[in-house]
Amino acid sequence: MSQTEHLITEAKKVLRDNDLGGYTVPTKGLYPFQWNWDAGITALGWLYIDERRAWTEFEMLFEGQWKNGMVPHVVFHQDSDDYFPGPDQWGVKGTPSTTSISQPPLLSTMIRIIYEQSMDKELAKTKLNELLPKLIQYHEWWYRERDPESTGLVSSYHPWESGMDNSPAWDDVLARVPQVQRSYQRRDLNHVDSDQRPLKEQYDRYIYLVDFFRDNEFDYQKIYDNCPFHIKDISLNAVLQRGTKDIIYLNTLVSESYDLEGLEKASSKADAALNALWDQDKRVFLNKDNALNKSIGIRTSGGFMPLYSHSATVEQAKMMADEVKKWLVLGPKGLASTHPLEESFDSKRYWRGPSWLHINWMIADGLKHYGHDDVAEELRLASRSIIDQSGYWEYFDPITGEGCGGSDFSWTAAIALHWLL
Ligand code: DGY
Repeated sequence: MSQTEHLITEAKKVLRDNDLGGYTVPTKGLYPFQWNWDAGITALGWLYIDERRAWTEFEMLFEGQWKNGMVPHVVFHQDSDDYFPGPDQWGVKGTPSTTSISQPPLLSTMIRIIYEQSMDKELAKTKLNELLPKLIQYHEWWYRERDPESTGLVSSYHPWESGMDNSPAWDDVLARVPQVQRSYQRRDLNHVDSDQRPLKEQYDRYIYLVDFFRDNEFDYQKIYDNCPFHIKDISLNAVLQRGTKDIIYLNTLVSESYDLEGLEKASSKADAALNALWDQDKRVFLNKDNALNKSIGIRTSGGFMPLYSHSATVEQAKMMADEVKKWLVLGPKGLASTHPLEESFDSKRYWRGPSWLHINWMIADGLKHYGHDDVAEELRLASRSIIDQSGYWEYFDPITGEGCGGSDFSWTAAIALHWLL
């Protein structure tokens, strides 16, 4: 068996082993439920195993969709002692139980890719017709509740919402969040070395925010006005923008199309609003601290995501392509999540340095859009070398390629099936 055949067999095994019957856990133990953006990426992997199963991944996730349209960041289809904060902590009623925050909304983009690449077009059409209204409600929720002043950029209120939990970009904003006073027991450290996970002082604040949302009865206006953690996340906004553009396209394919005036208006504002976060000296986009109304200077891989949303100008894209090459010299094993020369860079600690395959893929996809196929290919080869070396870990040391976090990880295996193999 060739190395590629071996990797394909292993990737399929990872998804099958993590399949709990219609939904896929990111990895056993550490993450025992269905996560929002993991589900989208993982469905891409299922496309190469069983198309029907790929669609089921979305259907199960949407079982947790709120009446207001929000798709939560975790859907607790069943209980588990392996994770904290589990379903009893969020104060959310309903079946299935869920968290009260969301995650980067990449579902519509993944659905577009699966729709376009699927062999069973009849099935794909049926599923698209069913899923599109839910996607529309989800994106309408982002603009209505997370950008009530129509600035063109939506707000996020928890580092978990960014998906880039302990990114140093959030440090100063998180420091303004009180540490929770109640005692609790983390479970993640039962599964992963503490050097590769967020610190206790960060967790204390993560949990404070969970309580804050519950105590404010999830009232979007109160949270918008008072949440001590309030950011404009460049990566999440780029993912939203790409996703909305894909909804607008998908709307041309369904049997009965919808009135998308609201989404079209929001999307037409977003490219300019994203553009205001460009930093000409750092040659990357920056996140924004909402309370201080200023950019956060730390360079993160999320700052390249306006490539993926096609929001960058041609000049910015060229500068970012050059910059990606430079980052890869400093960390050749995939794009570091934090620039390796930032003081806060930590090569193995989750989002403070490690490279992540789905981010590499999204940025490579954006680079190709702008015609930088050579840099996209460099990123692909770097990503391939990691799985050759280490297999399907959650994230990787960008300097050594060592696998970190959870092993047998669904989205890493899915990206391998979709992109690398
Ligand atoms: C975790 O628990 O580490 C997750 O990233 C939260 O979504």
